[in-house]
Amino acid sequence: MKRVFNFSPGPSALPLPVLEKAAAGMCDANGTGQSVMEMSHRSKDFKPIIEKTETLLRELMGIPANYKVLFLQGGASLQFSMLPLNLAAGEAPGAASGKKVSYIDTGVWADKAAKEAAKYAAVSVRASSKDKAYTYIPQVSSANAVANAVANAVADPDDAYLHITLNNTIVGTKWADIPDTGKVPLVSDISSCILSEPLDVSKFGMLYAGAQKNLGPAGTTVVIIREDLIGHAPAWTPAMLRYEIHAAEGSMYNTPPCYGIYIIGLVLEWLKDLGGVNAIAKLNHEKAALFYQYLENSKLFYSPVEKPFRSLMNIPFVARVEDAEKRGELETRFVKEAAAVDLINLAGHRLVGGMRASIYNAMPIEGVKALIQFMEKFEKSV
Ligand SMILES: Cc1ncc(COP(=O)(O)O)c(C=O)c1O
Repeated sequence: MKRVFNFSPGPSALPLPVLEKAAAGMCDANGTGQSVMEMSHRSKDFKPIIEKTETLLRELMGIPANYKVLFLQGGASLQFSMLPLNLAAGEAPGAASGKKVSYIDTGVWADKAAKEAAKYAAVSVRASSKDKAYTYIPQVSSANAVANAVANAVADPDDAYLHITLNNTIVGTKWADIPDTGKVPLVSDISSCILSEPLDVSKFGMLYAGAQKNLGPAGTTVVIIREDLIGHAPAWTPAMLRYEIHAAEGSMYNTPPCYGIYIIGLVLEWLKDLGGVNAIAKLNHEKAALFYQYLENSKLFYSPVEKPFRSLMNIPFVARVEDAEKRGELETRFVKEAAAVDLINLAGHRLVGGMRASIYNAMPIEGVKALIQFMEKFEKSV
């Protein structure tokens, strides 16, 4: 069997023991004589699977009892719409009757989230790091400023919520500190950092993540939402887009992404066996430190991201070559030669170019070491 080191930003590598377990149970899951793909979602065979997945997620993330966990479809992108529809939309379709909401613009996904919200709510973009190609996280004011409604405060006290993107997959930044929004619910897209290090869920009104990075296969979206924020969608909101319906039905209003939920359960079991979030965070810090240290010392490659805001999960890097055309050629050669030695998916996002190593939970430290070794060799060949 061949296994590559896959540095894809998502869908990304899954832990080998998870894939092996899934393979072993493919035709006969848990002695039921069926694949999980063949099970009725309402059967006695599937019920323990979804229940186990939720219990493990609650345990590993320390999700308080007054939060619902929903397993939905539509990716993180559908949450860009569901969030404002449920928490801020007005009695008539369109933004005119919607509530005020705040967004912080830290990259493509944050911007997409804000633009979608603007269809249903009065969006205010409180801060942006666009001026420096999103290579840092902008400063936002404290809860004190919120309470006093001073200019440039992180949110307005009347806001239905403030939205941030905790880890910015494309540009490789992460929020070093969680902003204090006082009574205004803080909402975050945690697609590319869920379970990578401890996170105090109680600081947030809602969290959401597409599964295809740290959780499991694409097709399942996890929403973690405080109960008091559920039940505010206007009457015109479609049933499938209402949190209260999914919450009331235990994510079974319609057929949920059963197989994805099953794999997430296996990933969470694997993570628990490893020692949970603290243990994986230690490993993630070791992996990222090794790679950033290498970039610091490299004569050819560097990280374009400001130090305090560097992501643990997605590490973009650029070749130090003045001429843009020559740089492009060198980077193309790098990605191709790396793939030839089974270090795959190292091209940067098509919007920013360069290269990027995504080192999610499932990437072993051996993968990072192999990449560094390859880069050292590549440097000598240039
Ligand atoms: C931070 C972040 N948000 C949202 C998305 C979009 O996710 P999806 O494709 O699940 O809609 C991505 C995808 O990479 C992402 O990294």
